[in-house]
Amino acid sequence: MKKTLLITGGIGYIGSHGVVAFETAWYETVIVDNLCNSSIQTLYGMEAILGYRPKFYEGDIRNTELLTQIFESHTFDGVIHFAGLKAVGESCEQPLLYHDNNVKGSLELFKCMQRYQVKKIVFSSSATVYHPGNLIPFTEESRVGGTTNPYGTTKLILEQMLEDLALHAGFQVMNLRYFNPVGAHESGKIWENPQGIPNNLLPYILKVWGGELPQVSVFGDDYDTIDGTGVRDYIDVVDLIAGHVRAYERMDDSRWKFTSYNLGVGRGISVLEMISLVEKVVGKKIPYIITERRRGDIGEVYCSPEKARGELGWKSETSIETSLKNSWNYYVANS
Ligand code: NAD
Ligand code: UFG
Repeated sequence: MKKTLLITGGIGYIGSHGVVAFETAWYETVIVDNLCNSSIQTLYGMEAILGYRPKFYEGDIRNTELLTQIFESHTFDGVIHFAGLKAVGESCEQPLLYHDNNVKGSLELFKCMQRYQVKKIVFSSSATVYHPGNLIPFTEESRVGGTTNPYGTTKLILEQMLEDLALHAGFQVMNLRYFNPVGAHESGKIWENPQGIPNNLLPYILKVWGGELPQVSVFGDDYDTIDGTGVRDYIDVVDLIAGHVRAYERMDDSRWKFTSYNLGVGRGISVLEMISLVEKVVGKKIPYIITERRRGDIGEVYCSPEKARGELGWKSETSIETSLKNSWNYYVANS
């Protein structure tokens, strides 16, 4: 019999790829999402890929009544928890919004899981939990803490909460620290659908390509990096999600309690290198200007993905060019 998974944030960028991958890997998924940073069109995109519409509840994970209704209606084997707000800059402007949405929302979810004895969870954590003073590449042994923005703090708090639940309440937790997801499902039917002006680099660049925005603002060129601009580890979203399926399957063995994995490529790309890579894919110059550093940003981040390779048998396989091409295909088809 198929196992049923609750997918929080399943209409979002990464979550929608998660729904498609878990359904394809023979799980039944049930989505809860309040659409605060996504569009219902993504549900129809998933339907077009799968040939049927996944189950979807529109609503907020802070709504205990809704969560209770969902847990009463289904027997879950586990939860893949993507729901959360993720904009670093916005979190500096509205820290309480981030603590309320991410921490309180997750707490309500964990309480409901405990009440219904659903104890397996894959959690979307982030590279931002690592202390900025660490040497790169970051490994899972690198120091965490000293977060430079409230978004990162919420992820760190949730990691600690989940570790407590694993140690003292029988939870099994796969804590996945994403680096910078890019790319899209090859169908061109699902991708990022952020409301308003995008915060992340690639969606912003593509909107400049499409003429929706005049130019890319490059946030600082005085970092200690190859060309002075910010360096990140860009990981294809389909590869990233394959890591979730591997991680979930590992929890069939109840000895897995709480484990953290870096999901990244292990290579850094600067903002200017990214602009130039996109220019090659789209065959057009992308205008940009250099501006001030963005609040809460750090210079260079990339990971060692060796632990995931060794223990999950997972590694990234898609080239950055293919990721960018898939994102562009989506953008062209949907704008
Ligand atoms: P996204 O904004 O596209 O998706 C998140 C989804 O969660 C959205 O559909 C949103 O509507 C929903 N959501 C948010 N708060 C909710 C709430 N209280 N109740 C119900 N639904 C809610 O973001 P994404 O890029 O798909 O990110 C998914 C997860 O991965 C997030 O937890 C994010 O913090 C984490 N993450 C993302 C990145 C990245 O660069 N995209 C990097 C590291 C970690
Ligand atoms: N950048 C620009 N201009 C833009 C947008 C971004 O120069 O318009 C730069 C940033 O300064 C940074 C790089 O591009 O150097 C990547 O920025 P993103 O906003 O795309 O990504 P971040 O690394 O800031 O953060 C992302 C997610 C977080 C996640 C983190 C993990 O947004 O949720 O990756 O590393 F935690």
